[in-house]
Amino acid sequence: MEHAEFRSQFPVLDSLAYLNAGTDGPLPRAAAQAAQQELDVEARKGRAKEHFERRGELGEALRASYAGMLGCDPSEVSLTTCTSEGLAIVIDGLGLRAGEEILTSDEEHPGLLGALAAAQQAGVSVRIAPFLEIHEHVGPDTRLIACSHVSWMTGRECPAGLAEVDVPLALDGAQGAGAVPVNVSHLRCDAYAGAGQKWLCGPDGTGMLYTTPELRGRLAVKRRGYGNLADPDQGLHARLHEDGRRLDTLALSAETLACALAAMQTLEREGWARVHGRARDLCSELALMLVAAGRQVVAGSAGTLLSFESPDPEAERASLAEHGVVLRDIPGRPWLRASVGAWNDEHDLQRLLDALR
Ligand SMILES: Cc1ncc(COP(=O)(O)O)c(C=O)c1O
Repeated sequence: MEHAEFRSQFPVLDSLAYLNAGTDGPLPRAAAQAAQQELDVEARKGRAKEHFERRGELGEALRASYAGMLGCDPSEVSLTTCTSEGLAIVIDGLGLRAGEEILTSDEEHPGLLGALAAAQQAGVSVRIAPFLEIHEHVGPDTRLIACSHVSWMTGRECPAGLAEVDVPLALDGAQGAGAVPVNVSHLRCDAYAGAGQKWLCGPDGTGMLYTTPELRGRLAVKRRGYGNLADPDQGLHARLHEDGRRLDTLALSAETLACALAAMQTLEREGWARVHGRARDLCSELALMLVAAGRQVVAGSAGTLLSFESPDPEAERASLAEHGVVLRDIPGRPWLRASVGAWNDEHDLQRLLDALR
């Protein structure tokens, strides 16, 4: 597909230089239409047996699509509402105790830190190591390593050495899924939590959690209902699904599922290799342009997002927005962050540079 044709599927790009997929990706027109179609049917026909069957079918199609992106079997994928939920399912579900330790890094997002804080309140110790060296800091009490696959501040990937460590590994894939190639077997992670609304361009309230059968079997499941029970009509005797469905969030609407699925299909039709490759190339180009314009790019920034220094990030972000350039500032650091996707083009990058002057 010609790039212009691919790009034309994202209406927000008609008016804005949208560089914010690390927060929420650009919604494809087909995804918005798919949601609208589901709602139209629901409004006209009501919501009875066929409606619930439709939700089930859409859920399985979305699970298969996420599995394709992660390089695993659909039975290993749970449908969640966001990355943070997937991370909480793992960290809380492990039920670690006082004296046991979770190792994490110094570049983590509140989405992971929240679940770690909850574990800490239960007496678990949480130790912080430098992101790129985290694999060298495993200690005798470490029961879990929980860190980003891709840093939300710099776009850097976690160290390859993590794959060699013999402690369960839970990766926060919020900035990984859809942004860079993901293969959970190569990463040798036990859990991978990702977002549907960021680099996968789906609606808010979608996400996925990959777990190995071994880890999944260790996780307490505290919420049960139609969404994750194998035989819900068995009342108090109802059992959980054995596979990834046991960790599914309890309700996702047909319109949410249809929207997420249509967004995935938009990217799949383009092909993951092109989606990842073009984003990476454009992001490298942006780094060069910023440096040439005298802006300091945060050291090590790589991949599909980068941060650069700003004298007043909040004010500059607001001023860029007035010029139709959408990106974010990083709280607590003097940085602006640009997320560059395959849907962007050189014109978007130039608009950012022009607006920065
Ligand atoms: C690294 C990282 N982890 C977690 C999150 C939270 O994601 P979600 O809203 O899907 O829970 C984000 C969101 O920006 C993130 O960048």
